[in-house]
Amino acid sequence: MSHPRFPHLFSPLEIRGKEIKNRVFVPGHNTALSEGGKIGDAMIAYHEARMKGGVGMLMTEVHCVHPTYMPLGRAWATNEECLPGLRRLARKGRDYGVRVIGQVFHPGRVAAASIDGTKMVAYAPSEVPDEMYKHVPTPLTADLIAEIVTAHGDGAARMAEAGLDGVEIISSMGYLASQFINPRLNRRDDEYGGSFDNRMRFVREVAADIRAKIGDDMILGLRISADEMDEEGLTIEESREACAALDADGVLDYLNIVLGSTATYTGWQHLIPHMQYDAGYTGQKSGAIKSAVERVPVMIAGRINQPQIAEKILAEGEADMIGIVRGHIADPEFMNKAREGRLDDIRACIACDQACIGHRLKGFAVSCIQYPETGRELAFAAKPKVDKPRKVMVIGGGPAGMKAAAVAAERGHDVTLVEKANQLGGQALIAQLLPGRAEFGGIVTNLQRECEIHGVDLRTGIEATTEIVAAEAPDVIIAATGATEHRPDLEGLDGAHVVGAWGVAQGTANVGAKVVVYDWHANWIGLGVAEKLARDGCSVRLCVNGAMAGEHLPMMVRDGWMGQLHKLGVEVISYARLYGADETSVFMQHVTSGEPIICDDVETLVLATPHKRQAGLWEALHGGDIELHLIGDALAPRTAEEAVLEGLRAGFAV
Ligand SMILES: Cc1cc2nc3c(=O)[nH]c(=O)nc-3n(C[C@H](O)[C@H](O)[C@H](O)COP(=O)(O)O)c2cc1C
Ligand code: SF4
Repeated sequence: MSHPRFPHLFSPLEIRGKEIKNRVFVPGHNTALSEGGKIGDAMIAYHEARMKGGVGMLMTEVHCVHPTYMPLGRAWATNEECLPGLRRLARKGRDYGVRVIGQVFHPGRVAAASIDGTKMVAYAPSEVPDEMYKHVPTPLTADLIAEIVTAHGDGAARMAEAGLDGVEIISSMGYLASQFINPRLNRRDDEYGGSFDNRMRFVREVAADIRAKIGDDMILGLRISADEMDEEGLTIEESREACAALDADGVLDYLNIVLGSTATYTGWQHLIPHMQYDAGYTGQKSGAIKSAVERVPVMIAGRINQPQIAEKILAEGEADMIGIVRGHIADPEFMNKAREGRLDDIRACIACDQACIGHRLKGFAVSCIQYPETGRELAFAAKPKVDKPRKVMVIGGGPAGMKAAAVAAERGHDVTLVEKANQLGGQALIAQLLPGRAEFGGIVTNLQRECEIHGVDLRTGIEATTEIVAAEAPDVIIAATGATEHRPDLEGLDGAHVVGAWGVAQGTANVGAKVVVYDWHANWIGLGVAEKLARDGCSVRLCVNGAMAGEHLPMMVRDGWMGQLHKLGVEVISYARLYGADETSVFMQHVTSGEPIICDDVETLVLATPHKRQAGLWEALHGGDIELHLIGDALAPRTAEEAVLEGLRAGFAV
């Protein structure tokens, strides 16, 4: 019987005689959980959470296949040592009825990682430098091409031996196979370059070698960008032509479509699209590929974060399966909740890119700012009930307090949350007001829902005092009282027209036409208020206490934002340290030379300076009889991510 709400999403699909129970898969994503190139306990627990959550198919992260690219922090399929981990994953897949596909990979010239801190030799079809990683690649010899083709087949053979259901060739995102197909990057004059068929030779040889080694029973798919979305990458016409040819060859069983390329700043914008891109915008592009192929199913991933959007793409015939990575990082139970109609309970990914790809790019395990259990499954996936429920009072209804309350309640405690504002959310309510950041407010909706599901008594509009605490008589207090803006004690600020960044975001500050934004944080705040003021018609100079504006943001968020500011004519001054202001000027110095940086003709100085923690209640209660925990910005002002993580830890500690 078809699903009443999502008939397409929950209809099975057969690929090479193997049934997939529904139309959603978790595409490959590097978790940074591999251990010495191998799958260990942490990665198994990570994938098991998603399998348990009801997804139909799951791809491993990219597995390196050849010694020319085998950095630490990536998984390797280069020798027998990968077998035990892959076998465990395959067994888990069978336990949960989830198909498991292994990705085989070579990046070619976009060799992002290093093995020992040195810049590695990047091999590519031709000597065409990339914009992102600054490689001048070494052209592959025919011998090395043959070796890399064979290495793909050998890696795939190991995946077959381990019992996986299939293998996926990475020809997406500007990686090696795509570089061969692309006439602007492939300038060879041998049998691998020139004509279309010559440029397709590498990927066809890889597919043929894999098929010969894995046999006819296993699924063989290929990931490709429908459009690499930049000046030099594969265009949609070129990808359509390649996909049509591969479809006609009859070797592959599916085409898995994404957008973007890792080779350029613009290409990166579309790989893991942030919240300035509309949810579901990728569907159109897979539709263009689908109309070019006749035989194989077409899959799409990218910014699909709700079952309604996935259903629509399927219903409109733009794809046959939907890939959801961040939606599963934010909520491993995505598919179970969709199936059971618990749509309000789905913790939709807000596309902030902060703790998933943000962590990965820093070499740490992927997680989620809304759901820090991700990547920490061994410690936090199961939430054991407490033997003796206690009365827990959480003070402060920002992200830290809400998470602490939800987790403590889920574990069986009797939890009350008290928030002095009339609305839950704390600083997240301000952050969502910045241009293009409205979706950030989803963190509040999602955490509030988590509290409601677990029965937290939510009380707003009440400022907790020692008297209220005494009347409540809790066994435990979790203080999550947050932080506020703080004006630094600097020369002349009292004589200047100075406003805080929060007031600008909230629209309550009175701002002149010529503005200097001083941004100590080098994150969202300075960029956001600069954009808002520029859109309001102000002339804006953004002075950053860092190497660049947005230095502490995930790079794709920063890069996209810098493009907006460039279009709006915002002047950016980096390496600036504020030391004073008067009625018309802002005085700064260069952080290393110490030379003055003076902005004249200023009407308003907007300050995005360090926040001050609000721990007064905790200090008043400290040393008394009640068990106390201090978390989030009240402990040390940071971001929503640390707040929610500390909420999780506090929920476990009580
Ligand atoms: C942390 C992270 C690592 C990724 N690593 C890979 C990878 O190993 N292989 C791959 O094909 N795509 C990788 N991707 C891209 C995803 O498969 C997917 O295409 C992208 O996240 C967009 O889908 P989403 O909007 O559902 O997250 C990665 C994405 C993330 C967030
Ligand atoms: S950190 Fe942000 S982008 Fe990443 S999964 Fe969580 S909500 Fe989505």
